[in-house]
Amino acid sequence: MSNSVPLLFALSKGRLADESLNLLQRAGLSVPVDTNSRKLVLPSNDGSIGFVMAKPWDVPTFVEYGAADVGICGLDVLRESGRRVHEPLRLPFGHCRLSVAGPKDRPDTPLRYASQPRIATKYPRLAQDFFRQRGVNAEVIELSGSVELGPVLDLADLIVDLVETGSTLRANGLVEIRTILEVQAVLIVNRAAYQLKSEQIQGLIEKVRAVI
Ligand code: PRP
Repeated sequence: MSNSVPLLFALSKGRLADESLNLLQRAGLSVPVDTNSRKLVLPSNDGSIGFVMAKPWDVPTFVEYGAADVGICGLDVLRESGRRVHEPLRLPFGHCRLSVAGPKDRPDTPLRYASQPRIATKYPRLAQDFFRQRGVNAEVIELSGSVELGPVLDLADLIVDLVETGSTLRANGLVEIRTILEVQAVLIVNRAAYQLKSEQIQGLIEKVRAVI
């Protein structure tokens, strides 16, 4: 590997970062020395991989366009992005689900609202698809975080958001109504790089596969 051009590997900053680096380390890949650095591209110890520390929502974009060869992101972010990449491996962390939730005092009716329900979400595409497939003409309101505020502040009837332990829902008087997507971390690869750098990339995939 050391004679080749370094692979560029986009990692999601935040929740998935530590577990991504742990997994890659266990797989025997050379990881960056100082992940707390403000530098955005970090070379691995042996120089074989450049790690790009990216905002999670940008990882599929970098990988689709080939700005990075490989990436790790959540399946939620990947599906919402609609980006076209290879997905050779699901990874054993980042487990949660994307669900429809609503106020606990009206749990059985929301998917049958006669009028246009308002849905607060960070996932407008997945939310719109879910309701459209059920013949519900939803008004999707995009928020960038703390989506649970939607019903609490009467901005929205329902939310579509990630649920992990369920404690954020409970703390805000909401209940889960329907799961839209089971989520976990996923390894993604640029489609051209998958062919052109196949030796490096297949080697990487096999090493990761061996420890999951
Ligand atoms: C996520 C998600 C929920 C919460 C779910 O939010 O959007 O709000 O975690 O976790 P729980 O089921 O274990 O309570 P995050 O903390 O990423 O912040 P955000 O809402 O600002 O996006």
